[in-house]
Amino acid sequence: MSILLTNIGLLATQDPELGELTDAALVLANDRIAWVGPSAQAPAADEHADLEGRAVLPGFVDSHAHLVFAGDRAGEFAARMAGTRYAAGGIQTTVAATRAASDDVLRANLARLARELLVAGVTTFECKSGYGLDAQQEQRSLRLAGDFTPETTFLGAHVVPPEVAREDYLASVCGPMLAACAPYARWVDAFCEADAFSVDECRLVLQAGLTAGLGARLHANQLGPGPGVRLAVELGAASADHCTYLTSADVDDLAAGSTVATLLPLVEFSTRSPYPDARALLDAGAAVAIATDCNPGSCFTSSMPLCIALAVREMRLTTQEAVWAATAGGAHALRRTDVGHLGVGARADLVLLDGPSHAYLAYRPGVPLVAAVWRHGELSAGTVPPD
Ligand code: NIG
Ligand code: FE
Repeated sequence: MSILLTNIGLLATQDPELGELTDAALVLANDRIAWVGPSAQAPAADEHADLEGRAVLPGFVDSHAHLVFAGDRAGEFAARMAGTRYAAGGIQTTVAATRAASDDVLRANLARLARELLVAGVTTFECKSGYGLDAQQEQRSLRLAGDFTPETTFLGAHVVPPEVAREDYLASVCGPMLAACAPYARWVDAFCEADAFSVDECRLVLQAGLTAGLGARLHANQLGPGPGVRLAVELGAASADHCTYLTSADVDDLAAGSTVATLLPLVEFSTRSPYPDARALLDAGAAVAIATDCNPGSCFTSSMPLCIALAVREMRLTTQEAVWAATAGGAHALRRTDVGHLGVGARADLVLLDGPSHAYLAYRPGVPLVAAVWRHGELSAGTVPPD
């Protein structure tokens, strides 16, 4: 089954050779991009849709989300807006609610959030555990997440649960919990912060995960400056996430290494924190991704378009750079080459915008501009004009 999409006003392929094409067309065959070029030269296909001059870009790749949880923390958010500082301790509230929830409740919440992400244009997402904090509960979270995405991350080192001594918990995260979770996880992550785990503790966790065959990623430099980013680069982690407080040495380390700096602009928004300077990262030569960090505590959004708008407005990315960061950048942060771009052979994951260019994502903040989403070659959300 092949589908020809013509009359694309601006096609932002994020493929370095194809770049951005005007008056373009695409052919999707099964779950892959089969052809890209000018509308006038488009080959025939089984089905056809005229996209009326609107913009197309790759499906967003959300490389950082925490979707396995129960309950909410709207009260904590309200208190924060009234002046209480965000602290990692709030995570315990969600841990208690998650442990008490049935599989069905957690699955339904995951399905609802996965659908929200899809409708807003996300076609690939990462999903962390971290609200279970014992072997059985963390494994359950990862099993459930694995039904929705292959990009599952063991985040046992989120905070220390109240019922376990710190050293015992760390030993468990690096031992029995990891053993229980590794078969269901692609990645290992840790929350490297004064409120959570020290750099030495995070090194142990990531090294244990690497030894178990997982890839490494790290929550780093979210609540203050610190050694997290340096550790992520030193270990060759795929991503250092947050990067809210960076020194120029951190920026240089990220530019010199292979670790993507994953920025989470709605976390800054929702915790009333300063925005990091993405311009400095890009100017130094670092790779930058943007992700939602959808979670019930620090940032309960599923809107990648709003992340893009804030990255442009507050972090000084151009709209092109922000779209790259939300697509190809997210793919780099997950070490994926099959998504995040629309070159021939890429997975047929794409977004149709109600607007002539991707600049509209920042120009029209908060407006639901995603008109249609194809995932694995299928129209999975929205509609296209009848042929
Ligand atoms: O990415 N930083 C640690 N984890 C999440 C927050 C989790 C929560 O507050 O529930 C984050 O911001
Ligand atoms: Fe997070």
